[in-house]
Order: sequence, then structure tokens, then C-alpha cells
Amino acid sequence: MAMKTVVILGRQPKLGLAELESLYGASNVRPIGHQAALLEIDPCVFNFDRLGGAVKFCKLLTELETNDWTRIEQFLIAAAPDKSTQMPNGKMTLGISTYGFKIQPRQIQRTGLALKQAIKTTGRNVRVAPNNQTDLNSAQVIHNRLTSATGWELVIIRNGNSTIIAQTIKVQDIAAYARRDQARPARDSKVGMLPPKLAQMIINLAAGPLPKQALQNICELPPDQTPTKPKLGRLLDPFCGSGVIIQEAMIMGYDCVASDLSERMVSYTRQNIDWLSQQSNSPIDKNSRLELFQADATTYKWPNRPDIIASEIYLGKPLQKLPGRDVLTPIIQESDRILSGFLSNLAQQIDKGTRLCLAVPCWRQTNGHLIHLPVIDSLGVIGYNRVSFQHSGVDDLIYFRSDQTVARELLVLTRK
Ligand SMILES: C[S@@+](CC[C@H](N)C(=O)[O-])C[C@H]1O[C@@H](n2cnc3c(N)ncnc32)[C@H](O)[C@@H]1O
Repeated sequence: MAMKTVVILGRQPKLGLAELESLYGASNVRPIGHQAALLEIDPCVFNFDRLGGAVKFCKLLTELETNDWTRIEQFLIAAAPDKSTQMPNGKMTLGISTYGFKIQPRQIQRTGLALKQAIKTTGRNVRVAPNNQTDLNSAQVIHNRLTSATGWELVIIRNGNSTIIAQTIKVQDIAAYARRDQARPARDSKVGMLPPKLAQMIINLAAGPLPKQALQNICELPPDQTPTKPKLGRLLDPFCGSGVIIQEAMIMGYDCVASDLSERMVSYTRQNIDWLSQQSNSPIDKNSRLELFQADATTYKWPNRPDIIASEIYLGKPLQKLPGRDVLTPIIQESDRILSGFLSNLAQQIDKGTRLCLAVPCWRQTNGHLIHLPVIDSLGVIGYNRVSFQHSGVDDLIYFRSDQTVARELLVLTRK
């Protein structure tokens, strides 16, 4: 059996699925339950670090033709001792996360103890990470060192009548995300804070299928060697604001072209990128180039063609609650004018097939209905096709938190 990868998806799983589909192709991505996906990708070449919508990266161990917990437990008890002998010596820490089962954390804890007893017969000491919930979150996996050489997190996912069993290789680096987000020197709450994970998703939806050079085999690298970043082409963000998309793109290895109408925002991006580049062990590749300048995205002529465009356009002013039509209409018109002006300007400057992902505002009414930007209905006339995804619909590509009035709709387009 070819090696396969399993991922646990983040808070909006359909966004994570679209991101995977964009990079790896729909036929290589199979949703399992509501929160996970199975990928026809060798874990050794999987680009987990650049994903914003996946929280756990696992390798598939097996698939069982049952979803009955007692039988799953029996299987694990039979398989665990042998598996544990393949680990280096030392006390082992075991964790269990389940997805899609109607089961209490207590029951999982009991299974953990039964596995501990079974493994102890091989002469090894085992500690079981406590489950307060049916799954362990990233912080718990890190805290219990479950991805270290003597750690073992079993990820058990219900897939209809069968069950996927996988082992966690890595979880998202929450500390690194927090640093890249909250420690940046130039931040402005008025332009809105784009979470780094959402920036990664925007870039990945714009990127489309990953080129061969991005699929490096990290398992063949000596353990002390970090992989060299592949050259990934030129990314344009013409509404760069404080530079979160640029930051994430440079970490991935893109050369970047960034601009903003506001000189102040240009200087914010400059300060933030300089700050991150100057850190010891900076995640930004030394060879990534950045061109940064002031420009109006609705009229500017870019001297070089971008390979991909990833941007968060003007969202209008932040709103605590939805205002009346008289206030809302001019806000919508302003964002619509900027988006349509930018798309028309860009259409004349990019090659057929060039792919874009733009986060644009939409507004949530109290009845749950969304107000979309009018220009979205005439994208075809301006020269763009909307990319459709097999596992997610257009309404799934809307990022929001329950307390937000202004949501971000992710438009994934190609130039006709
Ligand atoms: C939502 S913010 C982008 C925030 C950004 N993603 C970040 O990481 O901070 C939108 C930006 O669009 C800029 N903007 C508004 N109209 C513009 C135009 N016509 N051309 C270029 N930038 C514009 C604003 O100055 C603002 O910084």
C-alpha cells in the first residue's frame, strides 16, 4: 500500500478541504467524516507547514471495517505491543484522539489504560495523556510530547461504517503562529487583523497545484538539515496593508510584489517584514525577494507579470453590528468600486489561466443571510472564471467568526 497522509482540519473544515484540493487536486483528497481528510500523498513530501486549514498531520496506519468501539479497542490492544517495540528505548507517552464517534472521554481514557497494560507486557513504561475531551488539541499534543520519538498519538476517525487509524506526525505550531501574529511591531486594528492561518489559506487557494520542486522528500534529509526552500515564483498582493499575506508568502518561499494605496501601510509592511527577517532563525528565506511600494491597485501598471495574486481587498470599515441601508450602501459601493476597478485593471496585465484568490467583504444579516459584493455577479464580463471545488461549495469559502458582521468571502478566480 502506498503511504497515505491523513489530516485533521481546522475550525472551518470545508475551507481546509478547498485548500488541500487546490494544492493536491480533488482526486487526491478524500473527506473522512466532517473534520478530516485522507490524501493520496506520501507524508514525506507533504507540505504541512504551509497549510492554514489543517491542524494535525498524520500518517495512515490502517483502515478497519468496523465502527464499533469495542472491536476497535481489541484491534489496538493486539497491535500496540508490537508497534511499541519499534520505538527507541524509554518511557512512552500515549495519547488518543477520536473524531466522529459517540463516545465519552472516560471511555477513551479506559482504552488508553488497556493499551498501557498491553504495552507494559513488552517491558516498557507507558504514560497515558489525559483526555478531557474526545480529542487532544494541538497544545496538549505538544505539551505531552506525543510527536517525539517516544510519543504516540493515535488518531481514530469514523468513516461511515469503517474507521481510519492514523498516527500524528506533527501538529500546527501554535506558538509560532502567535508570534507571527501578535509580536509584529506594526499593527493597525482599523485595517483589520488578518490571521496568519487565513493568509496561508488565501495563498494556497491562489497557488493551485504545487509544482514538483515544492514536493521535496523531507524523510531523506539528515535530521539536522532543514530543507532548502523551493523557488515558487512571483506573488502579488496589491492591498498589502500590514503585510500578513506577504509575510506568509515569503516564509513559503515566494518572491513578492506588494503595494498599498496608503504610504503608512507600505511602511507597516516594511517594518513587519524587516522585523521577522532579522530574527535569529527567521522563517523567512534569505533568498526571497520583496518589492514594496505605494500604488493604487485600480490603475497601477505592474512592470512584471505575477505568477499568482493573493490579496485581502478593502473590507470597508469594521462594524459591530449591521447598520441600516443608508449607512451600509455606501460601504458596499466603495468596496465594490475598488474590487471591480482592480480586477479590470489587472485583467489587462496577466496571462490567461493566471490564478487569484481575493478575500473580499460580505455582510451577515441577523437572519444569517449574506450580502455579497455586486461585482461578483459579473466576474465573467470582466474576464474571469470562478474556480469550483469538488468538496466545497462557494458558500463554504466564507471565513467568519460568530461575533463578526463583516465576513471574508474568498474568491478563487482564473483569468479567462
Ligand atoms: C483589509 S486591508 C489589507 C490588510 C492586509 N491583508 C494586512 O495584512 O494587514 C485593505 C488595504 O487596502 C488598501 N487600499 C484601499 N484602497 C486601495 C487601492 N485603491 N489600491 C491599493 N490599496 C488600497 C488599504 O489601505 C488597506 O491597507
